[in-house]
Amino acid sequence: MNSSSTQKLDIQKVATSRVGEVDFNNLTFGNTFTDHMFECDYKDGIWQNATIKPYGPLTISPAAKVFHYGQAVFEGMKAFKDDEKRVWLFRPVENFNRINKSSVRMAIPEFPKDIFFEALTTLVKMDKEWIQTGLGNSLYIRPFVIATQVGVSASPSTEYKFMILMSPAQAYYTGDVRVEIAEHYSRSANGGVGAAKAAGNYGAQFFPTNLAREKGFQQVIWTDANEHKLLEEAGTMNVFFRVNDTLITAPVSDRILDGVTRKSVLALAERDNLTIEVRPVLVAEIVEAAKNGSLKEIFGAGTAAVISPVSAFSYKGTVYELEKQQDGFASRFKKELMDIQYNRSEDPFGWRFEV
Ligand code: COI
Repeated sequence: MNSSSTQKLDIQKVATSRVGEVDFNNLTFGNTFTDHMFECDYKDGIWQNATIKPYGPLTISPAAKVFHYGQAVFEGMKAFKDDEKRVWLFRPVENFNRINKSSVRMAIPEFPKDIFFEALTTLVKMDKEWIQTGLGNSLYIRPFVIATQVGVSASPSTEYKFMILMSPAQAYYTGDVRVEIAEHYSRSANGGVGAAKAAGNYGAQFFPTNLAREKGFQQVIWTDANEHKLLEEAGTMNVFFRVNDTLITAPVSDRILDGVTRKSVLALAERDNLTIEVRPVLVAEIVEAAKNGSLKEIFGAGTAAVISPVSAFSYKGTVYELEKQQDGFASRFKKELMDIQYNRSEDPFGWRFEV
């Protein structure tokens, strides 16, 4: 059911906020949660009991299907506070559309748009004291859906919970990002769930990413599952290459997530009249470009990571170091993006959404 709803949002406020206990200068990404969360249940074919309540544990049967079959999807979005303390979301409709697209792929019922936006904006307003001003500070917002029907038969759940949590955030990466190009493991395949923000897509990356970490690389750049010849996506980010002055990235497909930051970078690059190539990217051409000096930059783009320059990549045991670019594409897009997000520049694209 994705129609509008006439149900009222039930609001239960905390007696005392925890915001005063938080050290906002020393946040670890995704570990601190705001006072309130949103919860809504799907039962008897309808989303119901939309409630904002104090953040806290859930009581769920150990036989709930999410624990057995991983029927779960999520989103990542952010709210920003400008210097006048106005609060802005960035392209929230994109995240709403994508969570429903992910849900469809995972046989989960779509969530109604009106409940989503009422819950999201109410929640952000209620916990706006948790958003710090200043570039780099934000509120990371995590909508997600889990299958809650009790029973271990391998079939889609008939019951679900849609929730939104919020977590004050600073940078996702604190140092250099060094990446390894995948030669053996794969993230996604044709006809698979790579384009969905399915929880299992991320869990499945932990083991190969740990192997890369042991060698000093924070993330893996995934390659196509057939031949490991095409560069596709990094663990939590879409990936861009700059060869001379051309910006190159792989097209989205059913293997690659349609990233909101990715499409924003492409729109900024187009506006700035840069040469852009959205096409399959061969590992061999990037290795060759690194060898002949035409590879100027690699960077990741994602909600949590924003724009993260890659300082080195490894392929078949050889490490290719990239020269730091003070005024490269990565820093330029990061600035242009953040200026829009923090209401420090015009928003010609209409990406800001005031809460
Ligand atoms: C996001 O950028 O929102 C992500 O999906 C990254 C997350 C897995 C930490």
